[in-house]
Amino acid sequence: MPKMRAAQVVSAKGPYQVVEREIPEPDAGQVRIRVQASGVCHSDSLTKEGHWPGIQYPRVPGHEVAGIVDALGAGVAGWSVGDRVGVGWHGGHCGRCDACRRGDFLLCQVAGLIPGISYDGGHADYMIAPAVALARIPEGLSAADAAPLMCAGVTTFNSLRHAGARPGDLVAVLGVGGLGHLGVQFAAKAGYRTVAIARGKDKEALARRLGAHHYIDSQSQDPAAELTRLGGARVILATVTSGKAMTATIGGLGVDGKLIVLGAADVPLEVPALPLLGGRRSVAGWPSGRAIDSQDTMAFSVLFGVRSMNELLPLDRAAEAYERMMSGKARFRVVLTMGA
Ligand SMILES: NC(=O)c1ccc[n+]([C@@H]2O[C@H](COP(=O)([O-])OP(=O)(O)OC[C@H]3O[C@@H](n4cnc5c(N)ncnc54)[C@H](OP(=O)(O)O)[C@@H]3O)[C@@H](O)[C@H]2O)c1
Ligand SMILES: [Zn+2]
Repeated sequence: MPKMRAAQVVSAKGPYQVVEREIPEPDAGQVRIRVQASGVCHSDSLTKEGHWPGIQYPRVPGHEVAGIVDALGAGVAGWSVGDRVGVGWHGGHCGRCDACRRGDFLLCQVAGLIPGISYDGGHADYMIAPAVALARIPEGLSAADAAPLMCAGVTTFNSLRHAGARPGDLVAVLGVGGLGHLGVQFAAKAGYRTVAIARGKDKEALARRLGAHHYIDSQSQDPAAELTRLGGARVILATVTSGKAMTATIGGLGVDGKLIVLGAADVPLEVPALPLLGGRRSVAGWPSGRAIDSQDTMAFSVLFGVRSMNELLPLDRAAEAYERMMSGKARFRVVLTMGA
């Protein structure tokens, strides 16, 4: 039986372990992907730290996957062996629940469809994915460039394009990490007056190079007051993991302004009622995107030169990659490469 390597999490809060496994076979409706690159997202911590209910361990994380279709299960149409594909957080949908029947596949609530959580993800030489979850990778994007666009990229791009801002509006991106550094690029390239908000001064130069027109250091400045001074934000894309940091920006929303919660905040947000109703402000969440949204994200990125800044590490160093991401040392995405 041919073998492959997989970086699996042994148990909730348990270590990463690189093990040999049999190369899996695709069932009907699925494909096997020879993985070339797999991004390390903060949401991998849901699997690693056991914060998502019902995960069966050992589990292979990884929902920012780029590779090549290697085998087709029965009944798969429209894909061929050799196609370059990506898989993201939205790893399929049931097609039968009420959300799916409305055509809102992104809101399919049926469990069992998230790579790295409900089935094994991309931190391995091969993975199995439902054909419906595949996004076609365009020419002009390497696997390492494509991988982070499958979650960090599509989440920021897709939420921003549905946020209601118009060119010239003030758009702030809170947090300059994996998601945030892409959010800054998308906002600037889409024609918004772009503000990056991060802690400390050290990210200012990078944020400006990524396209930010303004930079707010949330440690030495009051983000709400600074955003108000700039005219009030139409949109704040909140990519941080801190609920307190999100709350500190809400006063900087302009009329009709919307705080879009992307980060899985550690504590609840505090939202004052009067500014919400008086200025029609809102707080909303946004979950990633479907395969077609990932394709749109990649197409936009090729057209406008948006790229994730990646630190490449081999699969065998998955534990170190995770640590670099969690500690905030990564600039800005760690991507595991399979070297095959
Ligand atoms: N909605 C969705 O569909 C979706 C998709 C993907 C990820 N997520 C979630 O989005 C969040 C970000 O993911 P990621 O992969 O981008 O993580 P990441 O690369 O670790 O980046 C998080 C960033 O947040 C910053 N941060 C944390 N606390 C802060 C604070 N108090 N003030 C300012 N900045 C702060 C960190 O800055 P420092 O460098 O200063 O520590 C870091 O740069 C996670 O909660 C993840 O689970 C959601
Ligand atoms: Zn993710």
